[in-house]
Amino acid sequence: MQDLAGKHIVLGLTGGVACYKSAELCRLLVKAGATVQVAMTEAATRFITPTTLQALSGRPVFTSQWDAREPNAMPHINLGREADAVVLAPASADFIARLAQGRCDELLSLLCLARPRERVPLLVAPAMNREMWSHPATQRNLAQVQADGAIMLGVGHGEQACGETGDGRMLEPAELFEDIVAHFQPKVLAGQHVLVTAGPTFEALDPIRGITNHSSGKMGFAIARAAREAGAEVTLVAGPVSQPTPRGVRRIDVVSAQDMLAAAVAWAQAATVFIATAAVADWRPAARSGHKIKKDGSGRPPALDFVENPDILLTVAQGERARGGRLFCVGFAAESENLVEHARAKRERKGIPLLVGNIGPLTFGQDHNSLLLVDAGGVRELPRAPKLVLARELVAEIATRLPAASLP
Ligand code: CTP
Repeated sequence: MQDLAGKHIVLGLTGGVACYKSAELCRLLVKAGATVQVAMTEAATRFITPTTLQALSGRPVFTSQWDAREPNAMPHINLGREADAVVLAPASADFIARLAQGRCDELLSLLCLARPRERVPLLVAPAMNREMWSHPATQRNLAQVQADGAIMLGVGHGEQACGETGDGRMLEPAELFEDIVAHFQPKVLAGQHVLVTAGPTFEALDPIRGITNHSSGKMGFAIARAAREAGAEVTLVAGPVSQPTPRGVRRIDVVSAQDMLAAAVAWAQAATVFIATAAVADWRPAARSGHKIKKDGSGRPPALDFVENPDILLTVAQGERARGGRLFCVGFAAESENLVEHARAKRERKGIPLLVGNIGPLTFGQDHNSLLLVDAGGVRELPRAPKLVLARELVAEIATRLPAASLP
């Protein structure tokens, strides 16, 4: 996916061992369609060579304000003016201190200070030892840099190159990349709290076995990511799936439909939008055996009784109506045929404003899908595309349908 097509990023490296991760970040940005201009401090060139970054970005790297390649001899002005964003990764403690003071005695700090602030955001990915990170001077400088308009991408926690463990390591390239992509998405859900259910549920028969379905959770996770990119606070109630948690999303893992119902009802209190993508098991075993059900030698399978699971979407939507609340509920329908008919009937049965239909066997486990949006006004198709693209389109559609009163 060319998530950054047409974007020009200045990638600034300062001195730190995390410079090796910036090579991968540069590659991810280029693969996503961005043009990348790398600028390095002298200290950064001690950790990784400009040649590596030139090869990956396809452009000569700038390391000095005295670089004669720019006809007007002003690389610090030109580089910042051309950019859609300046990304500092890694940003060392010293460089952050110098940003906080507005010092600019070399190219990268010069271009940060000289960039047109209202048009070119500064995204900062700090990297340092945990003691340096937690030092009051660093925290003071970080607060100042943020107050001056920079966007802090945060740090990771874990083992550090120095052998110590704690906060301060640079985020992984894939995490930084996700944050940079999110930065460019329109904030159509700013101020909203979106609750998403995703994945299958698992209904245990005994400690070993149970019934479930083929839902991978990909669509629900893509929607959670798209809602977060659009500026919402997002809570994702996930059945048993192996998807990575989207950046900045609160994930609540559940197993059974009853667990999912309890989590959804609790989080719906604070939510303004509820998107039910989960493929909830319709039935569960009436009783769960405390031990593995063994063959009894008769050759006959055990007699199993099932009871219907609660309908999570219906319960939340009805509860909301009873409270006179404003939660905007969106359902999904996985069908195998007659999609429009079933989707229309399901929307009315569940009493919700928007229902999204898809063909189950064409979506489960796939990276692509197509969606059918059914509301009171009619039917609209979102043609086959990667799930994240569809998720962003769906989020934009939901934003246009929210009552004006629920907008911040
Ligand atoms: N859903 C739910 N709880 C259930 C069943 C479904 O929250 N116990 C939600 C799904 O997350 C989805 C919508 O209801 O948003 C429709 O799910 P689907 O399984 O397609 O429909 P059902 O209501 O189960 O109806 P049917 O069995 O007739 O297809």
